[in-house]
Amino acid sequence: MKITVVGTGYVGLVSGVCMSEIGHNVTCLDINRNVINKLRKGKVPYYEPKLEKMILRNIKKNNLSFSNSYKNSTQEVNIFFICVGTPENNDGSSNLKYVYDVAKSLAKNISEDAIVFIKSTVPVGTNALIQKLINENKKNNINIMVASNPEFLKEGDAVNDFLNPDRVIVGTSSKDVMSVVKKIYEPLKIKNEKIVFMPIKAAELTKYAANSFLATKISFINELSILSDALNINIEHIKRGIGSDPRIGDKFLNAGLGFGGSCFPKDIASLINIYEQKNLESNLLRSVREVNKNQRINFMKKILSHFKNSKLTNKKLMIWGLSFKPETDDIRESISIKLIKDLAKKVKKLYVYDPIAIKNSQKELNRFNNIDFLKSQYSNISECDALIVCTEWEIFKNPDMAKLKKLKSKVVFDGRNCLNKEKILQNNIKYIGVSK
Ligand SMILES: NC(=O)c1ccc[n+]([C@@H]2O[C@H](COP(=O)([O-])OP(=O)(O)OC[C@H]3O[C@@H](n4cnc5c(N)ncnc54)[C@H](O)[C@@H]3O)[C@@H](O)[C@H]2O)c1
Repeated sequence: MKITVVGTGYVGLVSGVCMSEIGHNVTCLDINRNVINKLRKGKVPYYEPKLEKMILRNIKKNNLSFSNSYKNSTQEVNIFFICVGTPENNDGSSNLKYVYDVAKSLAKNISEDAIVFIKSTVPVGTNALIQKLINENKKNNINIMVASNPEFLKEGDAVNDFLNPDRVIVGTSSKDVMSVVKKIYEPLKIKNEKIVFMPIKAAELTKYAANSFLATKISFINELSILSDALNINIEHIKRGIGSDPRIGDKFLNAGLGFGGSCFPKDIASLINIYEQKNLESNLLRSVREVNKNQRINFMKKILSHFKNSKLTNKKLMIWGLSFKPETDDIRESISIKLIKDLAKKVKKLYVYDPIAIKNSQKELNRFNNIDFLKSQYSNISECDALIVCTEWEIFKNPDMAKLKKLKSKVVFDGRNCLNKEKILQNNIKYIGVSK
């Protein structure tokens, strides 16, 4: 099938490339010329495992191309996916400018009957507004149907998620759209019941419900970690104790610095805004957000209180992890970056290391002249008083103890509870985690 995917960010690129991998003929369209030029050479503009090889393979097979031109990318194509960003406005609502721009551009260029799937996360009612916008701007008497197909992939494992989805949610009432969806996803050989059709508005809300629920699990365990810390109970026991119940499950139950990223914070803000639009209260979601914010503040207090009798302005600290989670270079709403900004104002120097996200972070942190970006994980460790782990990258989980012992104050702050506490203590290094 010929498909055009609009927006080559984290979602659009993975979706487009994976659809080419399963045999469709895909054009990925973006207005960013730099990005398209890189992609044409097989270079991925951000870090996502497995993507680069797949791009090169499918360019070679003539299944995949990249374009800046709406005109060229709409010729003889009947299936479109909109995957552009929906960032947060100041009032928490979603900025739909990019989605509407794309819808208008598509409407002005599409010349045959077509289906436009909205993969971007959009507030309830947006698909209907896009349908109206397209109808007002389309050429001639063609039929362009809008359907919702929210995306649930996780950065860092996005290719796998796309090719082996837990479910595909499609909001439509059209039998024609349903049969096209089945054909698009047919090569994935997913069971029928995993393709879930529902009304458009329900599909729109499902995406917000999924992200808000996962964020709620994180804030739940984090709130519990405050109590278990005060009671001197290791929160890891509680995680194991409740996570083994299949009704609860152990995913998203890691106590730590809290959630960040380009989705959870903005999707919760947008959902709260949707409640407000309906004059309804969303107490739970507001609390989820509050707990998340406090988690970072509490951790900062632990660091400050550890050094209480010595001047922090003379201290040098080492930070491991900049990305909002492992296996990505995405630092949008990264808790690590927020913590670094708070700490940089208080300490003499911060040495920071991340296997992938340094380049993105440099732009974000360049106004601080006491932050040094390290090329390797342990360099300068003997100059530092403490290590703070902010992202649970695999390479951080089993550190070289001989090197850790070089820390001047011999203390490790584990913001993700991802280190082996016993091993660290055995090496006479103090361990401060999140109720661990
Ligand atoms: N990132 C995730 O993990 C994830 C997961 C699920 C859903 N989502 C949702 O998917 C959507 C996209 O997120 P993302 O992280 O991929 O965004 P992104 O910011 O990484 O990428 C957006 C891309 O859209 C392009 N673009 C903007 N305006 C355009 C236009 N008029 N025409 C063509 N291209 C245009 C930009 O140049 C950019 O490359 C958002 O709504 C997000 O909430 C994201």
